[in-house]
Amino acid sequence: MPPSQTDIDEEQLHFSNVISTFQNYANYSLSANNRRRKDLYTLPKADQELLSQLGYRAKLDAVDEAISKNADFLGSVVADPEIFGHDIQDEEDHSSGHSHDHSHGGQHHHGHSHSHGGTSTLKQLVRDWSAEGKAERDACYLPMTEALLSHYSDITENMRRNLRVLVPGAGLGRLAHDVAKLGFASQGNEFSHYMLLTSHFILNQTTAVDAHTIYPYVHSFSNLPTSEALLRPVTLPDVLPSSLPKGVNFSLVAGDFEEIYGSPADPSEPHAGLWDAILTCFFIDTAKNIVNYLRILHAILAPGGVWINLGPLLWHWENNNTHDPSVELSLDEVKTLARQIGFVIENERSLDTTYTNNPQSMLGYVYKAAFWTARKKREGEA
Ligand SMILES: C[S@@+](CC[C@H](N)C(=O)[O-])C[C@H]1O[C@@H](n2cnc3c(N)ncnc32)[C@H](O)[C@@H]1O
Repeated sequence: MPPSQTDIDEEQLHFSNVISTFQNYANYSLSANNRRRKDLYTLPKADQELLSQLGYRAKLDAVDEAISKNADFLGSVVADPEIFGHDIQDEEDHSSGHSHDHSHGGQHHHGHSHSHGGTSTLKQLVRDWSAEGKAERDACYLPMTEALLSHYSDITENMRRNLRVLVPGAGLGRLAHDVAKLGFASQGNEFSHYMLLTSHFILNQTTAVDAHTIYPYVHSFSNLPTSEALLRPVTLPDVLPSSLPKGVNFSLVAGDFEEIYGSPADPSEPHAGLWDAILTCFFIDTAKNIVNYLRILHAILAPGGVWINLGPLLWHWENNNTHDPSVELSLDEVKTLARQIGFVIENERSLDTTYTNNPQSMLGYVYKAAFWTARKKREGEA
């Protein structure tokens, strides 16, 4: 169905909101830091003096500087949005009214609001594209790529390019990139413009390892053991995104997972049975209706293919303020449902993982993420 004029208008409005959020990042963040400076002036002179001696005032200035450097980086991400090849037909406005931030356990932030879009993106960059994020990636992405390799262990490396792997909710694209790096044909799917613009910048406009420096931890002063932990720079990217094996197919498709991959279970539908593997990482809980997500995953998986899942169940639409429906199942229920839909679940385990964690913080959330691989039940199989 072609998008209506209202869809197109909303879409364009949303896209320009995202761009202005990045452009306004400095204003939002500097004024939050300025609040601290103003508060300082309300204190008795003697206290101000003591805090200055501690270096608190100098720290506030250093944070201002770090914020301007972050702003320069975010500014370059959106400097040339046309280059993005922005295709309004394929994208949807879904980034408001619901939360997709796994970085605060159980705490629901509603979307990438204007004040959070820039800061969440910086943290997400650490997770996907920095050396600092390696431990977190090794806990999440490595078990998934290992499961993929073991499912296709009889396929030689140069035959992998014939196997099509889908990564829905790809975020900043690192998992999809790692899959391509292993030689598989890899497609990420993502609908957030924050993620799409930023991954485009990293993947297509960054030509050197450690080309960028960001300061992802300057937005909150809480739970930090030292000032260095607050002001710590992080360089990106840790690998050259263009260093993929020759001839390997790697793409990121913009738009809503259900709309792109989920036309009704019609065998002539373009995605049915097309995917040799589907990797969902911190994704299935973004469903409003998990039944539909699982049904689509089942329909588009090729016979003999594998669905590899890792993630918690932080139902993104629980308590949404946009009157969207939301179904919130327990892990047991999700697995039972998956079996009813026709999956055979194997290799189940629980993995301790973090999500955009600051390793130096005095507070850390750890997810006991559910991991499994699943295949389609064969005809006649009990
Ligand atoms: C919690 S993040 C996980 C990102 C990435 N897989 C990772 O592990 O870092 C979930 C991602 O799914 C995206 N997403 C949520 N619902 C989606 C949908 N219906 N279609 C496409 N992407 C979606 C969000 O924008 C977000 O980037």
